[in-house]
Amino acid sequence: MKVNGQHTRTIWVEADGVAVGTIDQTLLPHRYATIRLATVQDAARAIKSMQVRGAPLVGAVAAYGVALALREDASDAALERAYALLIATRPTAINLKWALDEMMAAVRNRARGERVAAAYDRAREIADEDVAINQAIGRNGLKLIEAIAAKKKTGERVNVLTHCNAGWLATVDWGTATAPIYMAHDAGILIHVWVDETRPRNQGASLTAWELGQHGVPHTVIPDNTGGHLMQHAQVDIAIVGTDRVTAQGDVANKIGTYLKALAARDNGVPFYVALPSPTIDFTVVDGVKEIPIEQRGAEEVTTMTGRTADGRIESVRIVPDGSNVANYGFDVTPARLVTGLITERGVLAATREGLAQAFPERVEAAARTAGATAK
Ligand code: MRU
Repeated sequence: MKVNGQHTRTIWVEADGVAVGTIDQTLLPHRYATIRLATVQDAARAIKSMQVRGAPLVGAVAAYGVALALREDASDAALERAYALLIATRPTAINLKWALDEMMAAVRNRARGERVAAAYDRAREIADEDVAINQAIGRNGLKLIEAIAAKKKTGERVNVLTHCNAGWLATVDWGTATAPIYMAHDAGILIHVWVDETRPRNQGASLTAWELGQHGVPHTVIPDNTGGHLMQHAQVDIAIVGTDRVTAQGDVANKIGTYLKALAARDNGVPFYVALPSPTIDFTVVDGVKEIPIEQRGAEEVTTMTGRTADGRIESVRIVPDGSNVANYGFDVTPARLVTGLITERGVLAATREGLAQAFPERVEAAARTAGATAK
């Protein structure tokens, strides 16, 4: 999507053909700066520190991280070490494991001399596939927005609510939840987005608002607890969020607070959709509440807030009394029964075991094969 009017992806190979470039998302919206990842340690650090974040982008950075590791040492031991280092960076988004497993499959059975080229090729494919998938998600989700727009009076806007950042910054391009929004806006539909600020890291206020603004999409940032009120007053036509892991029965893990939005949406008859690329589906888990590991992050994300002072400095200030205990769960799980539909690259699916299995039979078979191999 656009940065200062220029088309930009979130990840690229630098001019030397080796290092990987990306955007430092911890500096947005106050500063746009790129960073250079030259080693697998750089890639792991960028994921862990959340300079890069969002399930699909984390997967793409990890894929390139494997390629960077193999450049230094193409042995089996180095490959295993890279896998172990990268998989430990963040626990909830399954795209990370998916991408690492793809990389393993692409290089493991090759001669050492072929591994580096094969790794860069597969990492590039993973990034390109993400863009194509998100475009397909956009086309499928656009139909939902068009149907809402068709019922509006002239001049009335379609109001979408989103949580966290499932935008192009969280992917390689387009975003998942935002792809239908960008396509609707580009098609001339009057669209407006309610952007949950998404405490504690404020991905909505800092990232979603920034990228929608760069693309000229009208939006309003709201404190996280505002969605229910807006829904009660018919100010939300549709909620569209992203996800970090979808289970075989359609339960959805996403940024903390998503579940509460789904409950409010159900109480108010607002359709609640989840946009996802197929690598986000984990067919090896069923009950999301019981089985998906939820990341717990540092207390400082809750006790402090960071922002720009009037004279342009970036500063952090403490907002919690010294001595108070703090809990910082990064994600929650929305049960499938609260999800109106899953917007995927293969269509809008029912959030059910049957809906997912019919659309992605090859993934169900692969999960069964893996389970069989592990049981032996
Ligand atoms: O902790 P983050 O910022 O990586 O969390 C991101 C989200 O929860 C997104 O909604 C999710 O990864 C989907 S991104 C297309």
